[in-house]
Amino acid sequence: MNVAIYSLGCKVNIYESEYVEELLKNHGYTIVPFTELADIYIINTCSVTNESDKKSRKMIHQARRRNNDAIIIVMGCYSQIKPDEIEADIILGNKDKSEIINYIEEYQQKKQKIKKIYDLRKNNDFENMYITKFDNHTRAFVKIEDGCNAFCSYCIIPYTRGSIRSKKPEDIIKEVTTLVENGYKEIVLTGIHTGKYGIDLKNTNLEKLLEELIKIPNIYRIRLSSIEINEITDKILELMKKSNIIANHLHIPLQSGSNKILKLMNRHYNKEEFIKRINEIRSIRENISITTDLIVGFPDETEEDFQETIDTIKRINFTKIHTFPYSKRDGTPASIMKNQVDERIKKNRVRRILSLSKELEINYYRKNIGKIFEGVTEERKNGTILVHTSNFIPVNIKEKIPNNQIIKIKIKEIDKNENVQGNII
Ligand code: F3S
Repeated sequence: MNVAIYSLGCKVNIYESEYVEELLKNHGYTIVPFTELADIYIINTCSVTNESDKKSRKMIHQARRRNNDAIIIVMGCYSQIKPDEIEADIILGNKDKSEIINYIEEYQQKKQKIKKIYDLRKNNDFENMYITKFDNHTRAFVKIEDGCNAFCSYCIIPYTRGSIRSKKPEDIIKEVTTLVENGYKEIVLTGIHTGKYGIDLKNTNLEKLLEELIKIPNIYRIRLSSIEINEITDKILELMKKSNIIANHLHIPLQSGSNKILKLMNRHYNKEEFIKRINEIRSIRENISITTDLIVGFPDETEEDFQETIDTIKRINFTKIHTFPYSKRDGTPASIMKNQVDERIKKNRVRRILSLSKELEINYYRKNIGKIFEGVTEERKNGTILVHTSNFIPVNIKEKIPNNQIIKIKIKEIDKNENVQGNII
């Protein structure tokens, strides 16, 4: 049978779709592109904004239109919290994705709709998933944790993903070892709240896990997909000092550079603590790339608060800012806060942050002209070669080198299209 899978949302969803794909292939199913005719369509949904819900619904309709006789399976965050809005044959939330084959077989036998939604704030088991390959041929994601207990006032994820559940360290070590043996050079540790890894297990946490992972034979690079500022412990910094296997790049969400807004967001740090920790990180890794997420136009964010955010960003000197206009998410405290910001003001603030981000990014790249790095070759679909350095600079090279090779390069220039160009040395 042909199966088409579409994944919306974050790296955790991408990992889970990859896992489901591998599981189906191992059971004799054939994976086809989502744009093709398939017997089964799986949509792994996201619900982080009202827009994500809309996109999830659109993909479900698209699948139904493509083949009215197909089995439509909807899983993920949107179906977890709004299962009753969904028209599909099999509806799963964020549990039982590993049971998908059983559900397909049950549906084929009984021809009755299946809906399995669990309360994930009460369920404390990590659903074990395991991959041996990944779509991108050089970099593989490994999900180490699920769930979030932080309840930022704008975020629906603690409701869609439930409470924190961590994968056992021995299972992670086994999975990473297999991926390394299968040729993956870079492992990206992902999770919903990665920095809280292990709080539900005994005797482990992120620093202990990292300490074990860097010992895996032939492991080349480990990247953390995202980590909160107050979860970068001294021990993690010590490991970063000791080992170059941990990438010279951290993605640390700031969300706002105004203490007033941070408080309203229920973020557990202020800008002074954030800046202090960044300085400590840079004292051990001077050229580290630090990227961030930022929400603009949060309720009650005045122009002055926004200016404070710009000032904080400049002081931190991020490499890149992923910015989002605040978007009301039903069911969250922020959605009913007073002083919601006008959409036009939000758009204007997004534009200003995007332009600042571009400026900071180019400055960072320029600062690295003439420096020598190591990285892994990635062949793009059009045949050109890209190398991501440890500090995640995407360097284009002209030389034709096979995919997935570790090479040394020197950054030559930023071309007129603002692409980084380099040479092999
Ligand atoms: Fe979306 Fe769920 Fe990820 S809401 S961003 S797919 S955790």
